Amino acid sequence: MSKKRHAFVGTGGRALSFIEPLVTTYGDQNELVGICDLSPARMAYYNELLVRDLGYHAVPAYTADRFDDMLREQKPDEVFVCTKDSMHHDYIVRALHAGCDVITEKPMTTDAAKCRAILDAQKATGRRVRVAFNYRWAPFRSKVKELIESGVVGKIHSVNLEYLLDTNHGADYFRRWHAHIENSGTLLVHKSTHHFDLVNWWLDAIPQQVFAYGDLVFYGKQNAVNRGDEKLTRYARYTGSPEAKDDPFCLDLTESESFRKLYLAGEADSGYLRDQNVFRDGITVPDQMSLNVRYRTGQVLTYSLVCYSPREGMRVTFNGDRGRIEYHEFIGTHMNRAVSPKNWKIEEKPGAEAEGEWIRVFPHFKSSYVVEMPEIRAAHGGADVILNEHFYGPPAPPDALGRTAGHEQGAASIAIGIAAVQSISSNLPVNISDLVTINPDAMKLSQLV
Ligand SMILES: NC(=O)c1ccc[n+]([C@@H]2O[C@H](COP(=O)([O-])OP(=O)(O)OC[C@H]3O[C@@H](n4cnc5c(N)ncnc54)[C@H](O)[C@@H]3O)[C@@H](O)[C@H]2O)c1
Repeated sequence: MSKKRHAFVGTGGRALSFIEPLVTTYGDQNELVGICDLSPARMAYYNELLVRDLGYHAVPAYTADRFDDMLREQKPDEVFVCTKDSMHHDYIVRALHAGCDVITEKPMTTDAAKCRAILDAQKATGRRVRVAFNYRWAPFRSKVKELIESGVVGKIHSVNLEYLLDTNHGADYFRRWHAHIENSGTLLVHKSTHHFDLVNWWLDAIPQQVFAYGDLVFYGKQNAVNRGDEKLTRYARYTGSPEAKDDPFCLDLTESESFRKLYLAGEADSGYLRDQNVFRDGITVPDQMSLNVRYRTGQVLTYSLVCYSPREGMRVTFNGDRGRIEYHEFIGTHMNRAVSPKNWKIEEKPGAEAEGEWIRVFPHFKSSYVVEMPEIRAAHGGADVILNEHFYGPPAPPDALGRTAGHEQGAASIAIGIAAVQSISSNLPVNISDLVTINPDAMKLSQLV
């Protein structure tokens, strides 16, 4: 049987975690036929890794202006989109029209017009789009889904989700392209898409209306100056700035081969600086956000995201008509260091002590109890390994937990963040149906592709 042909666009820090299993564990059924990126230096490093570390061969590398040539010459069956978020739509639409299926990293895209373009292209071509919502695939989050579906606390009426990003991982978004709304759509789209997708999936519900607040209160030059940290603002970037040596926000791009070869070497050909000062002028995304979502089912989500916390993790509570579920997930901190999945590790940082994850069920009029969960210390809570099996393994029967997300479920998640951004600027509630049409007849997420 011929192998399935895969091409990747966007060879930054993330793509390696999908390319490595593709050419190793799943190499018998799959092949990598081409890579595409703005930066020839980054692609050269990927080819170096393929040959030196992964026992594969170098693959044709196409600069971004030659993406269509890659599709025509290499004829991939599937294109994996791993670029910065604001370009996802462009590559998804072009790949679909070239007859390819698509897997895209989250968020599917960053604004309503781009989302509509993806939905239109999918409809016109009938090709398959999958969104890599790896959060859904972590076994302990599946456990929450199973508990809710078992009806142990009856019907869920409301959810509270508090997500904390710390001054290691959270700060990292403010060093790079994510700090600019035109690239990421804000962290309400880039990051919260994971959290909104989880709630949509846990509740099996489709969001309807959003009201939000968001402010930049910690990062940015003025905030640092206001709290007496002016000296942390004196350099434009960290690498090569001796004054930044003792700055706790310093990221030195000479620290590892992957940083040097992906990012330092790629500066000249792409203009991408990976280590900008988090206390600089020009940041256009909030670092503190809170919002309410009403679902088509009438359920309500109260959500907050803080990006400057001393610890990282989330606390979620579900209020049902027969009790309450509390879910805590504080598994430590990490930032994307562009390493191979086998070298991934939780980072040892003060204040980032891992408390682990646990679920406690509080039934009405009965004692509460803890639900046992496996301890998993792997990339993204063990989710990436299971997700890769889904992407590259032999076709499997439909997933009992409904973890596969297509274009409509991808839209249902980003629509909350996109509506929230609009609500922050208008100070009004926003109806998602005014932004994008997502199967108006459906009530449940599982009725969406
Ligand atoms: N699910 C997860 O856990 C997870 C983790 C990390 C990143 N991601 C997602 O993966 C994607 C990539 O993130 P990353 O951390 O690798 O970022 P990165 O900054 O390391 O890499 C982004 C890459 O996109 C390329 N790029 C930018 N504009 C381009 C264009 N117009 N054409 C072609 N290439 C272009 C850059 O040159 C760079 O190589 C993002 O969408 C991000 O949301 C997901």
